[in-house]
Amino acid sequence: MSNPFREDLVSRSRPQPCTVVIFGATGDLTHRKLVPALYNLAVDGELPPGVKILGFARRDKSDEEFRSGLEELNRKVSRSGHDEELWSSFVQNIHYHQSEFTDAEGYKRLAERLDEIDRERGGKGNHLFYIASAPEFFDDILEQLKAAGLSKAAEGCWSRVIVEKPFGTDLATAQHLNQVVNRTFEEKDTYRIDHYLGKETAQNLMVLRFANAIFEPLWNSRYIDQIQITCSENLGMEGGRGGYYDKAGALRDMVQNHLLQLLSLVAMEPPTDLSADGVRDEKVKVIRSLRQWDTPEKVAKNVVRAQYTAGHVDGRSVPGYREEDRVDPESMTEAYVAVRLMIDTWRWSGVPFYIRMGKQLPKKATEISVHFKAPPCVLFNALPGGVPGGNVLVIRIQPDEGISLRMVSKIPGTSLRLEPVKMDFHYSTSFGKGSPEAYERLLLDAMAGDATLFARRDEVEEAWRFIDHIEHAWHQSDNPPPMAEFVAGTWGPKEADDLLKEDGHEWRRL
Ligand code: BG6
Repeated sequence: MSNPFREDLVSRSRPQPCTVVIFGATGDLTHRKLVPALYNLAVDGELPPGVKILGFARRDKSDEEFRSGLEELNRKVSRSGHDEELWSSFVQNIHYHQSEFTDAEGYKRLAERLDEIDRERGGKGNHLFYIASAPEFFDDILEQLKAAGLSKAAEGCWSRVIVEKPFGTDLATAQHLNQVVNRTFEEKDTYRIDHYLGKETAQNLMVLRFANAIFEPLWNSRYIDQIQITCSENLGMEGGRGGYYDKAGALRDMVQNHLLQLLSLVAMEPPTDLSADGVRDEKVKVIRSLRQWDTPEKVAKNVVRAQYTAGHVDGRSVPGYREEDRVDPESMTEAYVAVRLMIDTWRWSGVPFYIRMGKQLPKKATEISVHFKAPPCVLFNALPGGVPGGNVLVIRIQPDEGISLRMVSKIPGTSLRLEPVKMDFHYSTSFGKGSPEAYERLLLDAMAGDATLFARRDEVEEAWRFIDHIEHAWHQSDNPPPMAEFVAGTWGPKEADDLLKEDGHEWRRL
């Protein structure tokens, strides 16, 4: 029965018509993710009518040239395929605006253009600014938007900004960027995107935990032995990514944002409501409760960093990390990281969380596995082989999104023999359709003014605080912990296995 007092909690605003201005419109993200996401929303009839897209970038291009580049990529990557007729009507709403990111004149022209579009729509309009340029331009773009009067909306309208990652490279730069953002846009109009939060299975984490009665009573240190979060990728530095990556590394590129966000959804307390702040208040507490690895000794004990050496991935022979295009041959940047985390709260006291992320591993997969404690060994321990393994709940974030529960069962027959079996739920078969891309959901949420799936200022800063200690130990201390190695196409370095072995655990095989 629904609770009459809390019905307000499920009402969600609808996405509203707006003009989406994308900074960095000639880049990969716009072509591979943002425009295909908007196209797929249009195909599914989810895009509010009258949405216009204005690509803002430095290169000289006509609308036609811009559109044909987008079309080429959309044909390759669109989730729902590419329909000529739908595309040709969708693309009529896409325009190109050439300007330097630092040129005030370009923003004045942008304001005039937005005025024109708004007038065509009947007067005033909503504006969604998506900053997807190289990060060195984030400050300039924000300041210029403010100077051109674009960060303030006309009465009855809104002006919002989505800021792409990387949101800073450490705590100090993130704090600085937050100051610039908050000087130009109100916090309620600021959307720090983390596309992992838009993934269907990440969103389902809260539903799994709080809409089912059977998990939450067990979701604590009394019943859970350890939790693992693995993000494995079977690519290296293709497409000239080495230049960016060698400055970032696995910890900054994926752990500070995506993996700590997943961790906070797994470990948070139930929020008081589903409002953006209700959820984010609980998530930030998890990150704030992380035990800090704040000396090189603690980092050496709890964190493993590694680079891959030449090997084979998916039958391809691939170079070692230091031989990759645009990577320093003497690089000390990690392309793999494994971390033991401890969350010092009542719920999680003593439960280790292990996170690992690596490039050039055997396959692309992200999953969370919750390993339950073994039952008391009193009934079946005399059997040959004892009781096989414990209960493991696996949440597959991607691919093959779904959830499985491993349990122990009797093998049919006259003798008593036990074997682990799996209860398995696959999104694709249960719901008969694929999940939308993360960017689709997140763009719609920004158009609806719902920031629940976006990182708040304090979440980003707390995450950097944790990461900074580790980066400091690696790059600025007198006794930096070593860099391990593994052969590309294998499951990471031996040191990462040893990290878990110390606790009597091992990584789950994916
Ligand atoms: C990005 C990282 O944020 O996420 C990349 O910069 C990484 O290095 C990518 O490959 C992974 O995203 P997904 O959705 O493919 O798992």
